Amino acid sequence: MAGEYTIAGGLADARRLARQAHVMEAATLAFLSSAGLRPGWLSLDVGCGDGQVSIAMARASVPRGRAVGVDADAESLLIAQRSATRAGVEAVFAQADAYRPIAVGVFDLAYARLVLSHLIEPAAALRAMVAAVRPGGTVAVEDLYLGTLRSEPPAQALNDLQDIYGATVRFHGGDPTIGPRLPALLSAAGLECVRERAVHNPMRTVADKLFLAELVRNMRGSVLAARAASADQLDDLCARVENAARDPRTVFYQARIHQVQGRRPVT
Ligand SMILES: C[S@@+](CC[C@H](N)C(=O)[O-])C[C@H]1O[C@@H](n2cnc3c(N)ncnc32)[C@H](O)[C@@H]1O
Repeated sequence: MAGEYTIAGGLADARRLARQAHVMEAATLAFLSSAGLRPGWLSLDVGCGDGQVSIAMARASVPRGRAVGVDADAESLLIAQRSATRAGVEAVFAQADAYRPIAVGVFDLAYARLVLSHLIEPAAALRAMVAAVRPGGTVAVEDLYLGTLRSEPPAQALNDLQDIYGATVRFHGGDPTIGPRLPALLSAAGLECVRERAVHNPMRTVADKLFLAELVRNMRGSVLAARAASADQLDDLCARVENAARDPRTVFYQARIHQVQGRRPVT
C-alpha cells in the first residue's frame, strides 16, 4: 500500500502538514463550499494525512453530517483521530488504500488533496472515489502543477527544490504536473458537469514558508532512493530554502493548485 508515496509520514510529517494546511486553508474551504458541502453531508477524505481537511469537512456538516478520513499511514490516522476528538467533531478515520472504495454509493462527497499526483494509477483511485459516492454525489480533487512554485523576489533554492521534487515524484511513479490533466481524468472516470479552478496560494509568514524546508527534510529517503540529489546537496538545499524562508522580504507561492470537481450521474 502506498509504495509510491515519497514523503515521510506520521509524526515526522505532522508539522509540515499543519503548515501546509494553513497555507491552503482558505482556498480549500472555498473549494469545498463550491462543491456543495453542507450540513447533513457524509464526506470522504481520501489520503487524509493528519486529517485537517476531514475535520473541516466534519465542522461544515453539522448537524447530522460527518466525515470519514482514510489513509495508508496508520500513524497519521492516530494523529487525525486525536485532533478530531480534541476539536469535538464527528470525524472518523480508517486505514484504507486509495485504490479501493471503503464503501460503495454512500458518500455525498469524496475528496482528495495532493494525493493523486503521488499515485502510479490516479485513474484507478478516481474510479474508487466515483464508486464511493451516491448517484448525484460529488467527487472533488485538488492537485498541483509543478513548475509554478516561485519566490518573489526570486530564490534559486526554490527552483532547485522543484527540480529535485519533480525528479523524485516521477521516479516513484507519480506525476507532479497532474493538475491540468485532472478535468480529463474526472470525465474519463464517468463524472459529468466537470468544473475547474486554479489557485496560487501565497506563503507570507516565516512559519508558512518553512513548510518548504520541512518538505525537503521529509523527502530525504525517497530523494536519495531516486538519486535526484546527494545527501550533501540535500543538506545544502535545506539550508538555502530555510534562509530564503527566514528572509522577511520573500513571499513564496505554492505551485499552482488545480481544483476540479464533477458529479456522478444519477442514472
Ligand atoms: C501530501 S499528503 C496529503 C495529505 C492530505 N490530503 C492533505 O492535503 O493535508 C498525501 C497523503 O496520501 C497518503 N497516501 C499516499 N498513497 C496512498 C494510498 N495508495 N492509499 C491511501 N493513502 C495514500 C499518504 O499517506 C499521505 O498521508
